Amino acid sequence: MDKNNPIGIFDSGVGGLTVLKEVGRILPAENIIYLGDTARVPYGIRSAETVTRYSFECTEFLLRQDIKLLIVACNTVSAISLNKIREKVPIPVIGVIEPGARAAVNSTKNKKIGIIGTEATIKSSSYLRAIKSLDGDIEVCGLPCPLFVPLVEEGWTSGVIARLVVERYLKDIMDKGVDTLVLGCTHYPLLKGVIQDVMNDVCLVDSAIETAKVVKDVLAEMGMLIVRSCEGRRKFFVTDSTEKFINVGERFLQSRIEDITKIEL
Ligand code: DGL
Repeated sequence: MDKNNPIGIFDSGVGGLTVLKEVGRILPAENIIYLGDTARVPYGIRSAETVTRYSFECTEFLLRQDIKLLIVACNTVSAISLNKIREKVPIPVIGVIEPGARAAVNSTKNKKIGIIGTEATIKSSSYLRAIKSLDGDIEVCGLPCPLFVPLVEEGWTSGVIARLVVERYLKDIMDKGVDTLVLGCTHYPLLKGVIQDVMNDVCLVDSAIETAKVVKDVLAEMGMLIVRSCEGRRKFFVTDSTEKFINVGERFLQSRIEDITKIEL
């Protein structure tokens, strides 16, 4: 295994770019390959069996690119299939649930944490289990927010519509008195501003940022961090139109998407 081998990241579509953005920010020298399964997005409404099957196909594709570490950027896949992926691959696999759960446990003072995510993520109770394994006294309240994903992809991340939708969903969770809220879906960091406005005293945990920190620690432990001043390569693969991915993705990434190829899994 060579240090210069890329980090592999996959997601159901464009959302995992929020994780790529954070990994790129703290590890700019790393070479990164991103796969978005845009032909089959969304995963968050599918059965566990289907999500696992799709995630194996994404994993196999990235392993063929000689990656040194795999990041499962999709909360839904991390919630449902992470252990099954880990059993199958010979390299470290990092999901987004554990890092987000740990940061939430460290943040809460009143031991009440809210989790928002897709239907599949909330139904899996993975965040709840991860939090309870760290501190059994914490109360966890999970809430699916299915409209957030299309809202963000449409670019409506601020303004009156975003505010109304966020208020409508988060009302129940506010009534529970949580002091910490985990943004348990790839798309939700783009709604951070509105969510923070609506829940102004609550600490928001961005799983993407927390995951990037874990990736850095794991690579350092393996002696696999690239230390150099120049920027690493970014390569993108998608399973549907590259054009649409670039349009929406550049907004998520806040930088250009250049080297992109459409593939079949
Ligand atoms: N990437 C998914 C997640 O983080 C959101 C989009 C989808 O449902 O596929 O759960």
